[in-house]
Amino acid sequence: MNQNDTIAEFIRDVKQILAVNPNQEANLEFVAERMRKLVADPIIRNWQEELPGNVHSGQQSGIVYQDESGLALMHASFGPEAMTPIHNHNSWAIVGVYRGRDLYQKWRRIDAGNEAGNAKVELIEEHILEPGEVTIVPAPPQDIHAQQGYGGKTVYELVLFGTNPFGKPRLYCDPAQDFAYTVHPG
Ligand SMILES: [Fe+2]
Repeated sequence: MNQNDTIAEFIRDVKQILAVNPNQEANLEFVAERMRKLVADPIIRNWQEELPGNVHSGQQSGIVYQDESGLALMHASFGPEAMTPIHNHNSWAIVGVYRGRDLYQKWRRIDAGNEAGNAKVELIEEHILEPGEVTIVPAPPQDIHAQQGYGGKTVYELVLFGTNPFGKPRLYCDPAQDFAYTVHPG
């Protein structure tokens, strides 16, 4: 098995899971379980490929897999310098850490909206994802998160999105102002 085979097998399994169970919440648990297996795989953990871009920088090179269904697997890396903005991708996602540690924050929208403008959000969880660990980004509007490489090092991840977020606008939330801004990446 090489990287390509490993990824192809992962995608095949994910599609099977998504096709079988119409209950999205249960699906995401199963997909997360499959992602845990993927990022625990030595072939993935030893992935030494340079990561010139990722979903957060707006560069195409972060895309590992995408298809017409919207399903997309991307590389992401986060440096230790600063937390990302509190943001969304208008999609559920499964985050899997394969190298480094991730200081990961889950946020929740607590007003009725899901658009830019007045927006109240609150931090519901902050934890450290170790290599091999995964987390579920729920479906919109609760797909709000922020993250940062932990322990002074960059964290490397694979992120599976239900809806390809590449090049699409996202929200940046500002809890101090109770406001969300639309941001166009790239
Ligand atoms: Fe993100």
